[in-house]
Amino acid sequence: SVLVRSSSSAKQSLLHRSFSSSSVPERKVAILGAAGGIGQPLSLLMKLNPLVSSLSLFDIANTPGVAADVGYINTRSEVVGYMGDDDLAKALEGADLVIIPAGVPRKPGMTRDDLFNINAGIVKNLCSAIAKYCPHALVNMISNPVNSTVPIPAEIFKKAGMYDEKKLFGVTTLDVVRAKTFYAGKANVPVAEVNVPVIGGHAGVTILPLFSQATPQANLSGDVLTALTKRTQDGGTEVVEAKAGKGSATLSMAINGVPDVVECSYVHSTIIELPFFASKVRLGKNGVEEVLDLGPLSDFEKEGLEALKPELKSSIEKGVKFANQ
Ligand code: NAI
Repeated sequence: SVLVRSSSSAKQSLLHRSFSSSSVPERKVAILGAAGGIGQPLSLLMKLNPLVSSLSLFDIANTPGVAADVGYINTRSEVVGYMGDDDLAKALEGADLVIIPAGVPRKPGMTRDDLFNINAGIVKNLCSAIAKYCPHALVNMISNPVNSTVPIPAEIFKKAGMYDEKKLFGVTTLDVVRAKTFYAGKANVPVAEVNVPVIGGHAGVTILPLFSQATPQANLSGDVLTALTKRTQDGGTEVVEAKAGKGSATLSMAINGVPDVVECSYVHSTIIELPFFASKVRLGKNGVEEVLDLGPLSDFEKEGLEALKPELKSSIEKGVKFANQ
């Protein structure tokens, strides 16, 4: 059944109920920016995830349509669409996981950093509301520039006295997905079997795939590895959108207590001197259980690691400074 409700702001929300006698625990997932290019397929993936019991779709526009569309899918979760700032509290209340693809994406010729001025403000508002309405939620940041947008909630949450560094993630999954695909093509191995850690950050040279640790092993030349690294750093935006939700689904699997889920993510870190760094992390019910060591790097990767530090450092500082303005 479909119920059309009016919120206090007289904007429409859609409530879809699906009934289930499942004994899987109740989990509320909120997607902020749910009507966008990332938000819509991500909403679909979350609706297909049997671990989710309540799916809250928030955007400043168009969520009733997305909620209606996604809500008809015959899986367990109840889908509610929320629209406009007046609805944000309701969208967030009780959320166990908040995924944020809200904000503007790149246009041709733009770097992720060019998005900072607009997206930093959006992220700041949304994360202030998270601190207030669902302070215990895991937060997955997709909005770019991730290198700077992850430090923003860290600062906001610190001020609100509820910062748990284990619960804040920058989504870098698509870098991994790309590295795997490109590697499989060159190494001539089945892509489904490929694993490649990707460390650093989520923009240009800060993305550092560790092909020396890739499995199955292949004897690729230095030139090929340099080209694969560059391709991973500069990949197209189209694929980016389709894959961004995939990692989020994996993270939501981890909150259900599936042991030993290891994924690359941009998190609070002490493995190098920078406070945020993407690397392999072991996930558990409460978020990051362990940030894993980088393992042995090739000389090429060691150079890449040194080369990415200045940009990543300044991107982090930019986010911190903005949050404290
Ligand atoms: P889009 O423009 O298609 O969608 C963005 C959505 O955010 C729109 O529906 C818009 O109404 C909504 N929005 C804007 N302000 C909002 C607010 N204050 N509250 C709630 N919603 C708001 O953009 P797209 O392609 O979905 O990309 C979204 C973001 O994700 C961009 O910043 C993009 O750079 C980033 N991105 C990150 C990736 C990653 O791997 N981390 C991959 C791909 C994109």
